[in-house]
Amino acid sequence: MFIDSANLDEIREGFSLGLLKGVTTNPSILLKEGKRRGVIVKEILDNSEGIVFVQATGSSYEEIYADCQEILAYGNKRIALKIPANIPGFQVINRLKNQNNAPIILATAIFSVDQSLLCGLAGCDYIAPYVNRMANNNINPYEVVNKTRKIYDDRGFSTKILAASFKNTNQVVDIFTAGAHTATVSSDVLRSMASKELASASISGFNRDWYELQSRLEFVKE
Ligand code: E4P
Repeated sequence: MFIDSANLDEIREGFSLGLLKGVTTNPSILLKEGKRRGVIVKEILDNSEGIVFVQATGSSYEEIYADCQEILAYGNKRIALKIPANIPGFQVINRLKNQNNAPIILATAIFSVDQSLLCGLAGCDYIAPYVNRMANNNINPYEVVNKTRKIYDDRGFSTKILAASFKNTNQVVDIFTAGAHTATVSSDVLRSMASKELASASISGFNRDWYELQSRLEFVKE
């Protein structure tokens, strides 16, 4: 799994669990940190492992391509590009994927199976279907991911489904069941996956009994 954050405390805590493969960001996530993109990306690289996805912005082919070049110029092999799955985005993906040393590309803002199909045909490495945003717009994200996975598996596409946009942990479980290869989650969602009230109550009970046993043993002679 990946963590969807640019906050260094959240990233450090997430990686301390030892199960993350990288970090995903977008301009809204960067806005929360209020630093220059180059600065925060370097800090993220220094405080994480694996892939760091940075989203290219712009509304035309020229703007998105220029922004991709700026991101790639940060010069770190762990950086991968997030590119919107729209017409200018596909044009940029086509150009980049036909270059030598093509970068890793995640096509982002996926809301439908037809978009996913094009991403597979375009040779994207990952796609990011937006689970909660779909649900909020009366689109069934599980159906989208399930059909996408079937197309990718039937056709032998190597594109991986990296599901994104979660409000709760049930959505994460359900999207994996529907066929997502992996997912990116906020620090809040990751914390609630790792920390359950019932588990905490059981663990507290065991700890209490352990300390009780220690205090009783103090009065027992060896
Ligand atoms: C990741 O690719 C997306 O940018 C992100 O997960 C969107 O999440 P949100 O819907 O919680 O903003």
